Amino acid sequence: MPLLTRILDAPVSWTWLDGVASRASEVVKTVLPQPVKDVLHGTVIGHPLHPVLVQVPVGAWTCAVVLDVLATLVPGHDEGLDRASGALVITGLAGAVPAVAAGWADYADLHEEQRRIALVHAAANGVSSAVFALSVVARGRGRTLAARGLDLLGMSLAGGGAALGGHLSYRWAAGANHAEAVPHVTPRGWYPVGRFAELVSGEPVGAKVGDTGVLVVRRGDDVFALADVCSHLAAPLHEGEVVEEGGRPCIVCPWHQSVFSLTDGDVVHGPASSPQPVFDTRVVDGEVHVRVRELPGVPAAEPVEGVLA
Ligand code: FES
Repeated sequence: MPLLTRILDAPVSWTWLDGVASRASEVVKTVLPQPVKDVLHGTVIGHPLHPVLVQVPVGAWTCAVVLDVLATLVPGHDEGLDRASGALVITGLAGAVPAVAAGWADYADLHEEQRRIALVHAAANGVSSAVFALSVVARGRGRTLAARGLDLLGMSLAGGGAALGGHLSYRWAAGANHAEAVPHVTPRGWYPVGRFAELVSGEPVGAKVGDTGVLVVRRGDDVFALADVCSHLAAPLHEGEVVEEGGRPCIVCPWHQSVFSLTDGDVVHGPASSPQPVFDTRVVDGEVHVRVRELPGVPAAEPVEGVLA
C-alpha cells in the first residue's frame, strides 16, 4: 500500500477513539433538530452541503497564503497585500463556521471506522482554525511576519485535514451515493417478486432482481418498489418501517432513519441526500412484477433467467 494511503488510513485502526467518537455523535444527534439537520446534510438541496461549504475557508486561506508570499517577495506593496491577506483569513474563519456545522451533522451518522477518520479530520481543521485566529491577532498587533508564518502553518494543517476529508469520502465512501450502481447492474425487464395477496399492506419485504435487492411495499391497492440498498450507507431498507410523511407513503431506513418517498424515491429527511433508484411495478394475474427504471441513455444490465414479457 502506498505510504500516503497508509498515513491517511492510520486512524481507521484507532479504536481508542471510539468512546469519544460515539459520545460526540450522540451529542450532535441530541442538539440538532431534524429540520436543521436536513439543511446541514444537504437533503434540502439534494447534494451533500459540507463539501460545498468548505470551499470558502480553504479557498480564502489558500489565497491569503499566496498574498503572504507575494508580500514577502515584492517589497513596497506589502502593506496592502498584508491587509488583503488578513481580510481573507477572517473570511475563511467566518466561512468555517457553517462548514464545521455541516461536517458535524454528517459525522453523527457515520460508521465507526469513518468516525475515527472524521474525528482526526475535525481535529486538524480545528487546530488550523485556531492558528488562523492567532494570525488575526498577530496582524492586529502589527506582527506581520509572525502572521504570515501562522498562515502558512494554518494552511498546512488545513491541507492535511482536507486530505483526510477527501480520503473519507473517496476511499471510505462517506457522503457518496451507495445506490448509484443499481440502474447499471440490475437486469432490465419485468421480474416477478411475489403474490399480491400475500403482501401485507404497510409491511416492507425484500426481493431480488438478478443480484439486486429490491424493497417492495404494498399500501392498500398500490405496490411500490425501490432499490433496497440505502443511498446513505447501504442499509437494507426492507428492514425499515413504512410511515406517512406529508401525505406520502415513505420508508424509514433502519440504520440512520433517512426517510424516502416510496412513490419516487425522493429523500424526505436525511442524513441521505441522494434519492433511491425506483422500480416500476404492475400486478398481472395476482402476481407483482417490478422493473428497474433505466437512466436516460443508460441501458440496464442484460436480462437474466425469469424475465417476463
Ligand atoms: S444507511 Fe444511513 S440512513 Fe440509510
